[in-house]
Amino acid sequence: MTRGASGETTLRHAQILKDIDTLLSPEADCSRAMEGVVRTLQAAVPDYTWVGIYLLQGNELVLGPFVGKPSPHTHIPVGRGICGAAAAEKATIVVDDVRADPRYLACSVETRSEIVVPIMSGGKVLGEIDIDSDRVAAFGQDDRELLEAVAARLAPKIQSARS
Ligand code: SME
Repeated sequence: MTRGASGETTLRHAQILKDIDTLLSPEADCSRAMEGVVRTLQAAVPDYTWVGIYLLQGNELVLGPFVGKPSPHTHIPVGRGICGAAAAEKATIVVDDVRADPRYLACSVETRSEIVVPIMSGGKVLGEIDIDSDRVAAFGQDDRELLEAVAARLAPKIQSARS
């Protein structure tokens, strides 16, 4: 049981991971599977207003599948914005109030909080999951654990599509 999460949240997150495991079956096409993952996450959690996957190409994060309003930030250099910071630090970043974070690159005026979770394999960043919420401090420890588990499942799929 996840500490701090309600039993209901834990059960919901277990179901999301089960659905994502089905999407990421070995025979599934990587792009279609990633589209399914962003759709599943956005549909399952009301606070997840915008959900996207960026893939690292060279020194740049390139926007892949997403659900939500189109973003002007389709190419983000490592080190820029919250997305670029998470790739540089190889660590999840949670921003409770994007208006108070000078790194933030705006995608929508309604966005109030953001979580960025790197997708890593063998110590290397392959990409990241980026989620925006219209609510301040929408992302807690339970969201971090869910999304890090999703990133760990995406990594081998993306890695094998690249090799
Ligand atoms: N807010 C991100 C940019 C991506 S959009 O949210 C989709 C950032 O600061 O890196």
